[in-house]
Amino acid sequence: MAILFHSPWDNADQWLAALRAALPDDEIRVWPDVGPVEAIDFAFVWQIPHGVLATFPNLLGIASLGAGVDALVADPGLPRHVPITRLLDPLMADRMAEYVCATVLHHHLGLDVYGEQQSREHWQRHPTRDARDRTVALLGLGQMGQRCAQRLGALGFDLLGWSRSAKQIDGMRCSHGPEQMQQVLEQAEIVVLLLPLTAGTANLMDSAAFNAMPRGAYLINCSRGEAVVEDDLIAALDSGHLAGTTLDAFRAEPLAFGHPLWRHPKVRVTPHIASLSEARTAALILAEQVRRARNHQPLENLVDTENGY
Ligand code: GLV
Repeated sequence: MAILFHSPWDNADQWLAALRAALPDDEIRVWPDVGPVEAIDFAFVWQIPHGVLATFPNLLGIASLGAGVDALVADPGLPRHVPITRLLDPLMADRMAEYVCATVLHHHLGLDVYGEQQSREHWQRHPTRDARDRTVALLGLGQMGQRCAQRLGALGFDLLGWSRSAKQIDGMRCSHGPEQMQQVLEQAEIVVLLLPLTAGTANLMDSAAFNAMPRGAYLINCSRGEAVVEDDLIAALDSGHLAGTTLDAFRAEPLAFGHPLWRHPKVRVTPHIASLSEARTAALILAEQVRRARNHQPLENLVDTENGY
């Protein structure tokens, strides 16, 4: 049997090398040069064109090469009877936690304010705040949210967590369900989005959500661009209600040249790098999924296509 590989990433060769090393007895075929479709029993994919997966009749599993599976589950032709897995790699959780800690600290320490002052050669100190007096809300408490909570907790921040279903996590006050979202936003000076994109999280951060946040609050989006209504965000920044935002995800990527978010003085943009997949570690996780599928064992980190993650 052979394995299908599809990824538009420019480091696809690195992925193929890592996957071939982890699965030395397998042939890994790169779409569209896949040979007879019957021979393919597993698929490793990222942003595969819709409809393609439906053409392989003998799939035992489909593994996403990234943590988010929104693009995959949006495929109307997705063979839903085949087990589908998300990539949950501890290294990616570490990367996300580094990004979130750096961004939270940057805002907490007022480094944007001092950067702006430096551009005017202006020396002015502002009061220093203690981390324990700064409330950070993590929306999304999966593997990445939990790792961010550990690291931010170690830095001393006051933590709130919100998830779709109830969770209990040491060191933070957790709430869940749509009806508890408002009270989390009301208390949060910094909101970090770590949610999967689903019908329930699309456009979650709109003008009502921004108005619920305290004046001077800060938004960090490490989720998907579609979770944020960009025009409402720009309005909340322009009115002074929000102090600023760091965005790693956008409704359309790459962010278009000339898009107002690029040059907005209260916006920091990174090109979807908060938690990149790493071929080296992912290959070992993916090889284990193939081994399980062929041994008729349940796959790990299965996607619930109804919930969308
Ligand atoms: C990146 O956005 C991912 O889903 O892994």
